[in-house]
Amino acid sequence: MSQIFDPMQLGAVALKNRILMAPLTRCRADDEHLPTPLMAEYYAQRASAGLIIAEATMAMPGCSAFWREPGIYSDKHAKAWRTVTDAVHQKGGKIFLQIWHGGRACHPALNDGREPVAPSALAITNDEVHTPEGKQAYTVPRALTDDEIPAIIEGFKNAAKYAKQAGFDGVEVHGANGYLLDEFLRDGANKRDGAYGGSIENRARLLLEVIEAVSEVWGSERVGVRLSPLNSFNSMIDSDPVALATWLAKRLNDFELAYLHLMRGDFLGEQQGDVISPVREHYRGNLILNMAYSASEAGESIKQGQADAIAFGVPFIANPDLPERLQHGAPLNDANPETFYSPGAEGYTDYPVLETSTAV
Ligand SMILES: Cc1cc2nc3c(=O)[nH]c(=O)nc-3n(C[C@H](O)[C@H](O)[C@H](O)COP(=O)(O)O)c2cc1C
Repeated sequence: MSQIFDPMQLGAVALKNRILMAPLTRCRADDEHLPTPLMAEYYAQRASAGLIIAEATMAMPGCSAFWREPGIYSDKHAKAWRTVTDAVHQKGGKIFLQIWHGGRACHPALNDGREPVAPSALAITNDEVHTPEGKQAYTVPRALTDDEIPAIIEGFKNAAKYAKQAGFDGVEVHGANGYLLDEFLRDGANKRDGAYGGSIENRARLLLEVIEAVSEVWGSERVGVRLSPLNSFNSMIDSDPVALATWLAKRLNDFELAYLHLMRGDFLGEQQGDVISPVREHYRGNLILNMAYSASEAGESIKQGQADAIAFGVPFIANPDLPERLQHGAPLNDANPETFYSPGAEGYTDYPVLETSTAV
């Protein structure tokens, strides 16, 4: 029976515990999408996590969905990220990078006027995007042609190479939350004909091709993938999320990945269902679960064999020493949503640690 504080092997990577830091966009990079020294400090503070999955990071230029998000598409980006990975490794941590394309959540104001691309010309309607000029409505994306898809796959592959150069321990392919790869997966956003639309197999084709390309760089045992079949954030919906999750769980076995990272629910509480049971039943590799886990539920889930590890998002924003706090049953700091995406150290690197903590 495994416990949350037990070490584990995640593909090729040995973790000291099963309390993982979920990817969290914090918008503290600079205007060239370069990670900053403040980001190195922030991630190093959280090095007691079994694994840090660093925030969604642009795999290629022109695919930004958040103002001041980081990128990983040049030597300059790799060099700047190296200060982050070095800082985490010096403190005994492990760190993957989440690589992504924002798809229809990208906005011309964030991408030098470039229009967003997506599987189909359907806009996000249930939210707005933060730009340097304030909040704006999402624009209608242009549907990618099949001919353009190899360049997207190549972009992810290049990002994987730069992530390796930057000293990460592996990469997580972002297939969740209504961004490009997820938009292809779900039939509410993907209305295409042809090789990348229609059946689940066709809708999953891009994700699988990206995983394959990225695995060529890293070896699949250092590649993870994140999915959120139920999340309606970013106007996402699928006619049969359980069938989609089940199909993917079976198919992903072929890759022998480091892990599958499954978000169990819906940020907006609109779509219900159990995706954990079918995924656990059919997926043979390491399963990380996420979304609104308390310490006790996380511990139970691992003990009962439902999950191999749990990723915590917001609790890690406010508690740099989260594993230590959970170990001691110490109270948790509350996170301040006002500073989730604001610039600077406030609400980023200034959350207090326990007085006894070894985390700094
Ligand atoms: C500020 C913020 C930024 C986030 N950024 C990302 C991201 O970059 N990539 C991603 O896959 N999920 C992102 N998420 C979702 C979290 O990884 C996580 O799934 C969510 O917070 C639910 O987990 P929790 O209940 O433990 O916080 C973000 C969530 C928040 C609150």
